[in-house]
Amino acid sequence: MDTQLHAALARALDGVPHHELRRRVAALSHRYRTEQVDDAAPGMRDHLDAVAYAVIRMPATFRALYAALSAAERHVDASFTTHLDLGGGTGAAAWAAASLWPTITTDIIERQPAAIALGQQLASSNSWRWTAADLRHWSGSADLITIGYVLNELSDHVRDSLIQTAARSATTLVIVEPGTPPGHRRTLRARDLLIDHGFTIAAPCPHQRECPTDWCHFAARLPRTELHRVLKDGTRNYEEERFSYLVATRAPVRPAPARVIRRPDRPKGRVVLELCTSTGAAQQLTVPRSDEAYRAARGASWGDVWDQSS
Ligand SMILES: C[S@@+](CC[C@H](N)C(=O)[O-])C[C@H]1O[C@@H](n2cnc3c(N)ncnc32)[C@H](O)[C@@H]1O
Repeated sequence: MDTQLHAALARALDGVPHHELRRRVAALSHRYRTEQVDDAAPGMRDHLDAVAYAVIRMPATFRALYAALSAAERHVDASFTTHLDLGGGTGAAAWAAASLWPTITTDIIERQPAAIALGQQLASSNSWRWTAADLRHWSGSADLITIGYVLNELSDHVRDSLIQTAARSATTLVIVEPGTPPGHRRTLRARDLLIDHGFTIAAPCPHQRECPTDWCHFAARLPRTELHRVLKDGTRNYEEERFSYLVATRAPVRPAPARVIRRPDRPKGRVVLELCTSTGAAQQLTVPRSDEAYRAARGASWGDVWDQSS
């Protein structure tokens, strides 16, 4: 799916002057980094903004959404046949859901006409249905609702009301936010609201208690295309997308016994894992080479389930 998405993005760039795209990329990156995107200043105001977003952000938001949806597949005991994506932008969540469940039916609600038009152009043969609507006034229902990188663009009041309406409209909700401390706090607020609505948190938390950390986030690594490097003045051939996420459901869950919540440290002869555990506590686990869990610990990555007895 990465390959198809990259090919679709390359086609969308045909004929777009690079110097103009570079200017838009710089402006858009700055506004998203400093969280200056909201009702009064939407991120994608015209076609070039949408192209800039799709080139520099969509591969990363796709990867983060794919990771969160993979956690839903692993930890929620239900099948998903219908999907509603709120604030879909250029369609990253639809691409991610289709990669995991090729026959899923996807509806997308998005406000900006330029994002919808580009999303439809990128999707070409996919049969996703797009509706131009504001998230303050929407209706719909599905097995699965995704809200990817949207809460940060809403006021506190609209954000809470969106989560509450979504809770009445789906069995499973997947929320992804930037992996920043404010992104983590917005995810936690959604977590509290959803627990109040009778949802169970399926991932990343292995428990339903208060979050024991002040900044829970994860990372997805993705290749950078040559164009991406040129547009962002980067030299590395990969980027790491940091994100916070939540999978909440009314369906039965297959909870993780514990999850690795930081990048593992591997000093000589041992592995140090920061875990969030089913008791609701964060715990540091040191696994020496002599331990039979050492091999598993060596292979563990940030965000993985840890299911060795400790
Ligand atoms: C950062 S983009 C994320 C797009 C996509 N979900 C992704 O992950 O790549 C946020 C999207 O939410 C949309 N959005 C923000 N506020 C909205 C609102 N009140 N009604 C509808 N869409 C909204 C924006 O237009 C934008 O496309």
